[in-house]
Amino acid sequence: MFGTKSFNDLAQEIAKGIEDIDHSKISVIICPPFTILDRISETIKDSSLVTGSQDCHFENKGPFTGDVSAQMIIDAGAKFAIIGHSERRKHHFETDEMVAKKVLAAIGNDLNPIICVGESLEDRKNGNAAKVIEAQLSKSIPANYDKDEIIIAYEPIWAIGSGNVASAKDIAEMCLIISNKIKDLFGDISLKVLYGGSVNAKNAKDILKIDGVDGALVGGASLIGQDFIQIVKDAL
Ligand code: PGA
Repeated sequence: MFGTKSFNDLAQEIAKGIEDIDHSKISVIICPPFTILDRISETIKDSSLVTGSQDCHFENKGPFTGDVSAQMIIDAGAKFAIIGHSERRKHHFETDEMVAKKVLAAIGNDLNPIICVGESLEDRKNGNAAKVIEAQLSKSIPANYDKDEIIIAYEPIWAIGSGNVASAKDIAEMCLIISNKIKDLFGDISLKVLYGGSVNAKNAKDILKIDGVDGALVGGASLIGQDFIQIVKDAL
């Protein structure tokens, strides 16, 4: 819940800041709030950026006052949707089953889901992180997922917005667990794993080098144009 109309300038700054980089190997997606999604999509339409939403309802339309469907998100010019972010799970009581329904609605409308999973600090301390993530993956992705690629954002809940990044060893271990589980569930599907949780312009380079990390989901640092541009360059 960051961003008003003035974020148009931020989107322009980011688009300009990354226009000369080699885009053959990376994708840069910005996911503004719904209220400015259409506007930002329009602003960046001739750049290498694409937009995504921060949620997506599981029905295409209907009496769901205040909710936003995949069709509406596509209509606003977005190509991706973050689904199952831990803040949605916490504040909106989204269960894995609801997340799976949202993923299904997204893919049914050719909206690419970025499916978030992550353990709590308690789970990590009790040694349950792997088990929790495997269960989230099994239940948050619909069994009939039929796209060529799955994008998972691994975001330890305690690392989001806290300034505490998971250790390189733990991130690598979790990426491997995620990739093995996805293989179990969906065979040889293409998988991208993003790490999220306090990624910033100072630590991105090291995080993006970790085995199994294909990209980053950046929250706070994306609100500062030059920092976000630096993170994109660190991904090259
Ligand atoms: P952060 O947020 O980068 O500020 O930790 C990540 C997120 O909101 O998923």
